[in-house]
Amino acid sequence: MIGRLNHIAIAVPDLAAASARYRDLLGASVGAPQTLPEHGVTVVFIDTGNTKVELLEPLGEGSPIAGFLAKNPGGGMHHMCFEVPDLAAAADQLVAGGARVLGEPKIGAHGRPVVFVHPKDFDGTLIELEEV
Ligand code: CO
Repeated sequence: MIGRLNHIAIAVPDLAAASARYRDLLGASVGAPQTLPEHGVTVVFIDTGNTKVELLEPLGEGSPIAGFLAKNPGGGMHHMCFEVPDLAAAADQLVAGGARVLGEPKIGAHGRPVVFVHPKDFDGTLIELEEV
């Protein structure tokens, strides 16, 4: 069921500074910031050609990445996102196999449904699945 790597997400304490690093030091194509209040983050996507990097900065009170940044104040890798053709079928397969799918699907940063899988069920790495 797993498809291509859609993006790798990095939680950052300063989105403007991180965006400038990718643009100025790596010459990357850096998108405009998007606020996603439903997800409690502001995101910037960087197109690296074969995949994307998603920079995440906390937005508002109770952001889901606030705890991560408290533990990793300089930022760090937050999740990987894989594409799947059928999100409901993928979630069912994961649950049947004993993995914890976190909540119901939500519309993600690309306007498509996404779900997250508990990092303790994937070697310490939070996994996002996006239906494409
Ligand atoms: Co993501």
